[in-house]
Amino acid sequence: MREAAGVRALVEPRLIEPRLAEGLVVEGLSVAYGAVRAVDDVSFTVRPGEILGLVGESGSGKSTAVLGAMRLLPPPGAIVGGSVHLGGADLLAMDAAALRKVWGEQVALVPQGALSALNPVLTLGEHVAETLRAHPERAGASSGGLSRAAIRARAVALVGRVGLDPVHLDAYPHALSGGMRQRATLALALALDPPLLVLDEPTTALDVVVEREILRRLLALQEASGFAMVFITHDLALLLELATHIGVLYAGRLVEHGPVRAFHPDGGGGRHPYTRGLLAALPPAPGEDRVPISIPGHAASVAAPPSGCRFHPRCALATAPCAAVAPSLSPRASGSAVACHEVP
Ligand SMILES: Nc1ncnc2c1ncn2[C@@H]1O[C@H](COP(=O)(O)OP(=O)(O)OP(=O)(O)O)[C@@H](O)[C@H]1O
Ligand code: SF4
Ligand SMILES: [Mg+2]
Repeated sequence: MREAAGVRALVEPRLIEPRLAEGLVVEGLSVAYGAVRAVDDVSFTVRPGEILGLVGESGSGKSTAVLGAMRLLPPPGAIVGGSVHLGGADLLAMDAAALRKVWGEQVALVPQGALSALNPVLTLGEHVAETLRAHPERAGASSGGLSRAAIRARAVALVGRVGLDPVHLDAYPHALSGGMRQRATLALALALDPPLLVLDEPTTALDVVVEREILRRLLALQEASGFAMVFITHDLALLLELATHIGVLYAGRLVEHGPVRAFHPDGGGGRHPYTRGLLAALPPAPGEDRVPISIPGHAASVAAPPSGCRFHPRCALATAPCAAVAPSLSPRASGSAVACHEVP
């Protein structure tokens, strides 16, 4: 296991507060950019206290799937199928006002590349104040709003939660290191105590030591307050430590989905040939006698996906039906659901 090993073990288990009990339920979600179907028939559920890790190669549709589920797709992205419910409410049926309330109060998204998205002319403290003032009810303000002193006190507490010295509240983004800015984006995401946190590759740009420290804090906060989380990454090894559930995307489709134990080597190491390929490509853990083997070929493009099982041109187990018929997800003894004609 890589440097992130032990992240979960270092967190004291606490009582998880169940909020938004039904969680996020995505069923058969399909998203298109014009003629390109970037996400095809994807389903997953995230309940309070759970961390769903979404993994897959670049272009597999990870960001599109969560942006679609949150109704935050950039044009020309459009949802062309499926349903999304959050806490039982139908997100796809909501008007703009209802969506704004959901985005402010129930979901916090840290989008891909958020490190560079902080406003360069606002200090970190001003960012926090803006967020709290935009949703005064959620921030716990009385009808008179939050006083400057109350906002400052909230901001000091908030940055403390993510391990940032309050002295940085008066700093502009350019004066913060990458790790500090990532803590700042997390603090902003947590400002309104959201029941669902969606993080799209939050630590990709950071070195492993900083990444590990930030994830440890995030897990501690998540276990203490019980929010649900969707965590997108290319790093399956990280998810084995961090996630409670894992979804593996390949060329816009979910090829395996289940509890994290089904992906650990002693739980079968995943069933789908692509999942097993991702695991075999990981660098060996210290003391592990294994040579990493990369998956042959290139990731399939969603613009011109292969017929049948989209993984078939790269799959050592492929048989004739694989190129003709797309497999659907079905449960396996490992505990995960797998889209494959061949593996038991
Ligand atoms: N705004 C857009 N307009 C047109 N096509 C897009 C747009 N955004 C994404 N796509 C296409 O949708 C597909 C899925 O992209 P997406 O960004 O969701 O993948 P990803 O798994 O998040 O990749 P990465 O790991 O690189 O972030 C890709 O083929 C991409 O080119
Ligand atoms: S369906 Fe066939 S090609 Fe696809 S992963 Fe399974 S064995 Fe491989
Ligand atoms: Mg992405």
